[in-house]
Amino acid sequence: MTNVLDGNAVGDRIREELRGCIDTLDGEGVTPGLATVLMSEDPASETYVSMKQRACEDLGIESIHREIDPDAPAEELFETVESLNDDPEVHGILVQMPVPDHVDKRTVLRSIDPEKDVDGFHPENVGRLVAGDARFKPCTPHGIQKLLEAADVDTEGKEAVVVGRSDIVGKPMANLLIQKAPGGNATTTVCHSRTDDLGAKTREADIVVAAAGYPELVDGSMIAEGATVIDVGVNRVDADNEKGYELVGDVEFESAKERAEVITPVPGGVGPMTITMLLYNTVKAAGIQADVPVDLP
Ligand code: GUN
Repeated sequence: MTNVLDGNAVGDRIREELRGCIDTLDGEGVTPGLATVLMSEDPASETYVSMKQRACEDLGIESIHREIDPDAPAEELFETVESLNDDPEVHGILVQMPVPDHVDKRTVLRSIDPEKDVDGFHPENVGRLVAGDARFKPCTPHGIQKLLEAADVDTEGKEAVVVGRSDIVGKPMANLLIQKAPGGNATTTVCHSRTDDLGAKTREADIVVAAAGYPELVDGSMIAEGATVIDVGVNRVDADNEKGYELVGDVEFESAKERAEVITPVPGGVGPMTITMLLYNTVKAAGIQADVPVDLP
């Protein structure tokens, strides 16, 4: 029987534990606050941001939202971030990616106060992660670590293959998997669009993390018997239904499930964990900034 991991259940358990941390902060007169900034009219980005806002409100985190016209000058975004950096009630800042082409992404990431960078994308936080001294682990890879831990999947000494080299998932996932730390110690290969014979690499893996952004790129024939398969993909593909689309992962679930021992579904696998770890980082940020020790799960 394949173990299909339930990201909602694991995420809910961590969110319950975060409530205790929020109560501790509350006792010191601190309410964690997360600011989301959206400079896009992309429906998927709008949906992600509203899901993040709702998750904050459900847990007792103050949600602050700023929307910027995608045609506005880049300065407007930088001024918004600056005012959020200076606002003591804002502990975390998230600028939803992607930003429009006329806005330099790297400048945006550098403009966020590293102590409020709950995505963990500021170069200071990327450097700290690589050095094994993470302040904020990026939400999706951190969520995957928590999911593996909850499913008793040990990474130590295992062959892990990460498919995708994005700054948001692939690179930080590989960095976490190679750390000399719990949830790390894996022999890790990063594959990408120029990898020759992807299947030959993934078939060698005890753990496959598919984060390339291509619908159903990894099928059952590319998975070793008994492997753990983590699907990060959220791809909209045309479908003959009311919405006109459906969501599929980077893994062809049905064929992969035949061979995997552990697998995540889409939706309901990694997605809820990403949002959970954003809440986690926001609570952590509030604790650091208010100098209140919190016992994070
Ligand atoms: N766009 C897609 N994923 C993310 C994320 O984790 N954080 C931000 N800021 N933008 C994203």
